[in-house]
Amino acid sequence: MTAITELVSFDVEGSVGIVTVDNPPVNALSAGVREGIKGGIIAANKDDAVTSIVLFCNGRTFIAGADITEFGKPMVGPSLLEVIVGIEGSSKPVVAAIHGTALGGGLETALGCHYRVASPTAKVGLPEVKLGILPGAGGTQRLPRVVGVPMALEMIAGGAPIGSAKAAEVGLVDEVIEGDLRAGAIAFAKKVVAEGRPLVKISDQDEKLQEAKENPAIFDDFRKSIARKTRGFVAPENCIKAVQAAVELPFVEGLKRERDLFVELMGGEQSFSQRYFFFSERLAAKIPDVPKDTPLLDINSCGIIGAGTMGGGIAMNFLQAGIPVIIVETQQEGLDKGLALIKSNYAATVSKGRMSQTAMDKCMSLLSGTIKLEDISDVDIVIEAIFENMEVKKEIFQKLDAICKDGAILATNTSTLDIDEIGEATNRPESVIGLHFFSPANVMKLLEEVRTKKTSHTVMATCMALAKRIGKVPAMVGVCEGFVGNRILHRRSEQATALLMEGAMPADVDRVLFDFGLPMGPFAMSDLAGNDVGWRIRQGKGVTSPVADAICELGRFGQKTGSGYYEYKEGSRTPVSDPIVEDIIVKASKAAGIDRRDISDDEILKRCIYPMINEGSKILEEGIATRASDIDVIWVYGYGWPIYRGGPMRYGDAIGLKNVYETLLEYQKEHGDFFKPSALLERLAKEGKTFQDA
Ligand code: 3HC
Repeated sequence: MTAITELVSFDVEGSVGIVTVDNPPVNALSAGVREGIKGGIIAANKDDAVTSIVLFCNGRTFIAGADITEFGKPMVGPSLLEVIVGIEGSSKPVVAAIHGTALGGGLETALGCHYRVASPTAKVGLPEVKLGILPGAGGTQRLPRVVGVPMALEMIAGGAPIGSAKAAEVGLVDEVIEGDLRAGAIAFAKKVVAEGRPLVKISDQDEKLQEAKENPAIFDDFRKSIARKTRGFVAPENCIKAVQAAVELPFVEGLKRERDLFVELMGGEQSFSQRYFFFSERLAAKIPDVPKDTPLLDINSCGIIGAGTMGGGIAMNFLQAGIPVIIVETQQEGLDKGLALIKSNYAATVSKGRMSQTAMDKCMSLLSGTIKLEDISDVDIVIEAIFENMEVKKEIFQKLDAICKDGAILATNTSTLDIDEIGEATNRPESVIGLHFFSPANVMKLLEEVRTKKTSHTVMATCMALAKRIGKVPAMVGVCEGFVGNRILHRRSEQATALLMEGAMPADVDRVLFDFGLPMGPFAMSDLAGNDVGWRIRQGKGVTSPVADAICELGRFGQKTGSGYYEYKEGSRTPVSDPIVEDIIVKASKAAGIDRRDISDDEILKRCIYPMINEGSKILEEGIATRASDIDVIWVYGYGWPIYRGGPMRYGDAIGLKNVYETLLEYQKEHGDFFKPSALLERLAKEGKTFQDA
């Protein structure tokens, strides 16, 4: 074996030259890998004993893409394009042997090879769009030449990978190899030579482009089909333009067009934020004071207390991960209703073709219910998901303490209550943790995990790993009112309400925040969640909110009652402004002695968003969140903050903390201490720093 570089080696087995990449964890195409592959192909071509070449990767995966950490830095060594030109130009056939994931530059490298074989579990895709860029090493020019334009558009502008069976069906993979991939790839390479098969250069082929050449409307139809999903993103449009170039231009010119469109995206704020978010998401899974090698508890069963919407949604995550669930309710009727709801949710997914009947049956077979708390005495984790009442929760945790086996994790899904206090109600506070799921719990990716002062490292580490197992992205935070997500949300809600009192209408505020990129504004969101929830909480605390209270007093609880801040026509979820609400708002302003005024969109945006950034800054100061990027993960995955703006903290960095700070000071003068900048924000702004430097 010859080392071409530290990361790539070359060896010869019989007549087959094998270029092996070894760059853990994901064989990203860093400079040493690019140089090594280029060198390996040259070495193989020079070696007279070699008649064919296999490109193989050690470790858990084929090349998973360009090395994202190199982006924005000066290029060292050969470019990926250069490497791929070398592969495609090889005079001996090159076979890519794919296992794990061939993504982005990894698939582009494989597309430069003359043949591709893959293990049955392999996945291939071009996910660059998720990083706010496009495949920049020929992927947009080669993929449509293999799979046709419609599928290439889906894969490039959508970013989702496909499995090897599908890849083989569409000709992206030449053979699926059961068993030893390396040996299978060597055998395949020998077969190519023995059968005198040609050196297939994808760049030479354009048969699959014909359909789009004859029907250019394909592109506009596709644009329309993804418009809703890609609102606000710039990368999907460039992806489409690049594929269009494959159809309209000769290969080499198409490559140049791809490069221009790639460079345009790479220099933009959206791609910066999306790449930042890629690493933030992975960083959030790491808790600095919990050692990496902390032993984990086995979680093979789950008890959920409460068969409501939340309990049911939580249960579905576990069932889909193959973990049996027992749901506990106090009454048989409530239990039956809850179990039936889970079943009907699955049935709806099956009828939409998003789940097989077999998968649904498997999930349902893992689900059971009981009205006796003792029946969950043996589960590995309990998640309590009942209504927010401290006394009731404490009582439940005391009972759990008495009946659950030693070492069981006792979790609460509370979104508001003090989990330290809940933990202290037991004799094992080290086993107590908050697992705050977001509604709908089977859909939203965020799991806000809340550590108390006493939660053990083992419990934290286990819950972080568990989150990944059930398809969630975790972020660990500390105890405070509303934890991280809702605490920041409340600041925004307070300003949204203040803006109504000063002159705006719900539709003004909602439009500005929707246009900013959020899925909906605060009033549409309140109508969706139910205005009565906040009303009851206010009543419990003895506080009032004139507009919100008046709306609830009319029974306008939101979509479920057909009206709230807006009116909803029968069977429709579209909010329509309602003069009754406008009248309530105008009267409330008058009663408070406020002269209503015109409020600009710019003011609406800043008044809603800057206090969120300020609150995030206080959360960091208090050590409730470990990193600014954790807050961003919470807001993107829990509240639909547009990923292309990175999260509220990244947005603050992007617009400049000095600007945020100075605007808050102006608002403080005008409207009071609600806007007082936090000490951390003040320091960073004065030092010209960002939250990332904090
Ligand atoms: N570059 C640099 N680091 C990468 C990386 C990449 N392309 N892909 C993953 N990593 C790092 C992660 O940051 C993580 O680091 P950490 O351990 O320090 O946190 C480590 O590798 C493992 O990654 P995951 O935790 O994500 O591991 P999983 O097994 O869950 O997932 C994966 C593996 C599916 C490959 C996932 O990492 C992934 O989706 N990676 C990104 C793939 C991608 O976007 N490729 C396209 C890159 S852009 C490109 O190729 C441009 C080209 O067109 C020119």
